[in-house]
Amino acid sequence: MINVIFVCLGNICRSPMAELIFKKTVEERGISGSFIISSFGTSDCEEGNGVYPPAKRMLESHNVKGGHVAKQLSLKDVINADYILVMDSGNLFDVLRLTGGKFSEKIFKLCSFTSAPRDVADPWYTRDFERAYEDISDGCNAFLNYLIETRRV
Ligand code: 4NP
Repeated sequence: MINVIFVCLGNICRSPMAELIFKKTVEERGISGSFIISSFGTSDCEEGNGVYPPAKRMLESHNVKGGHVAKQLSLKDVINADYILVMDSGNLFDVLRLTGGKFSEKIFKLCSFTSAPRDVADPWYTRDFERAYEDISDGCNAFLNYLIETRRV
């Protein structure tokens, strides 16, 4: 089993979008049994809240189903994960602060697996949920291709 966790700041927009998109992707390929997939926020500011309604609507418009309740990332979550996929440089900084610089070998920016490495801009501020959806989908597909090409799944 490969334990994958997606991480953003609030855990109500980007990382739950990534969790639900990646779950759908591996289900469609018939390999969901090989994964444990979840998401977390570096902050506790949205703890207990559901997916932000505009993000949820964007997922539904692409036929991505499911929900999520926001929770803050802990050191234990990082220790138990095989891959920690963050959305932007700020998330990367915050996760490495939590770990004291440890486990950097399994912490990646999601879109670092794509042909155009970039941050997933926070739609909480940009209001561009379509762009976030496209960047996250691109990152999830590229990450899965990396796992397949390197025979990890
Ligand atoms: P996310 O977006 O990190 O993609 O979930 C945010 C959601 C909430 C806040 C910031 C970013 N907030 O400050 O409450």
